[in-house]
Amino acid sequence: MHLQFRIRPVQDSDLDAVLVIEHASFGKDAYDRKLLAEYCHKCGDLFLVAEVGRRLCGYSLTCVRGDRAELVSIATNPESRRAGVASALLGSTLRRLRRLKVARIGLMVRVTNHTAIRFYMKFGFTKVKRVPEYYEDGNDGWLMRLVLKPQE
Ligand SMILES: CC(C)(COP(=O)(O)OP(=O)(O)OC[C@H]1O[C@@H](n2cnc3c(N)ncnc32)[C@H](O)[C@@H]1OP(=O)(O)O)[C@@H](O)C(=O)NCCC(=O)NCCS
Repeated sequence: MHLQFRIRPVQDSDLDAVLVIEHASFGKDAYDRKLLAEYCHKCGDLFLVAEVGRRLCGYSLTCVRGDRAELVSIATNPESRRAGVASALLGSTLRRLRRLKVARIGLMVRVTNHTAIRFYMKFGFTKVKRVPEYYEDGNDGWLMRLVLKPQE
């Protein structure tokens, strides 16, 4: 069942709740507060949160350089998964990027993260290149990419 949630840009006051989602989703690979705060100031317009009532249930973080964007991170609280939260976050991000005339968006994902790969493929992302030992623990990553058509 899909949840009723609102997507909006992050605020400094959201960072504690984002950190909880971050730790529950990435464990030892979680970004720390300092890095998230930096992203909040650097990429704030595309650092989005999903909230149900006043509770955050997911976030996505995208940075733009020129006509290219990078999806830096996306995560949904474990108890809110498979309810359309990440789809709403990514859908909103893609609409914002098209308005900004960004031509394409890329991301890196662990080759073992089949859930995320399936999620990205549903949005039309394709695997471009396998990058050996991209992650600190020696795991390989997939570079995935989506070309953004302005009229969509
Ligand atoms: C990947 C992730 C962000 C998806 O979030 P979500 O809110 O559950 O995603 P949605 O409900 O919007 O799912 C959209 C689609 O993704 C795919 N998907 C999501 N979870 C899936 C699962 N457990 N198994 C298979 N496909 C899945 C499905 O195609 C799904 O569409 P459907 O429900 O109509 O079949 C979430 O699992 C997560 O936070 N994972 C941990 C963090 C992470 O790995 N982030 C990506 C780092 S690169």
